[in-house]
Amino acid sequence: MLDEKTIRNMISAAIGQLAFSYTPYSYFKVGAALLAENGEIYTGCNIENAAYAPTNCAERTAFFKAVSEGVKDFQAICIVGGKDGVLTEYTPPCGVCRQVMMEFCRPDTFQIILAVSQEEYEVFSLKELMPMGFGPGNLL
Ligand code: THU
Repeated sequence: MLDEKTIRNMISAAIGQLAFSYTPYSYFKVGAALLAENGEIYTGCNIENAAYAPTNCAERTAFFKAVSEGVKDFQAICIVGGKDGVLTEYTPPCGVCRQVMMEFCRPDTFQIILAVSQEEYEVFSLKELMPMGFGPGNLL
């Protein structure tokens, strides 16, 4: 289970990413902080594109940074987001990001922290947000 201090660190790291979020089209800024099993936090922001489709979500930026450095075991991710970077509601991960989580994380243990501030957050398992998800195990 995640302790309060770890959750706070993850929320701070995710909020810190809002400054780097590149959103000239939607103005919707998202920050993510991915906690690896090794204790390291990998951060990510959304990165938009004039052709729209190549846009990368904050969560996938964080996953791909970690995996590209050889890290593939994860405990939890914290996600924050809002128009112009103003946090008023939870930003749940999109379907594509949930699928990327299915690739690397155990649905019953991986924790997804949705936050609007240090005080206001909720924790879900990947299984809750992606019931009956398709993953590497289905190909065996
Ligand atoms: N976005 C994310 O970064 N993560 C999500 O899970 C939901 C959507 C981004 C993509 C795009 O830059 C903006 O939010 C509006 O869809």
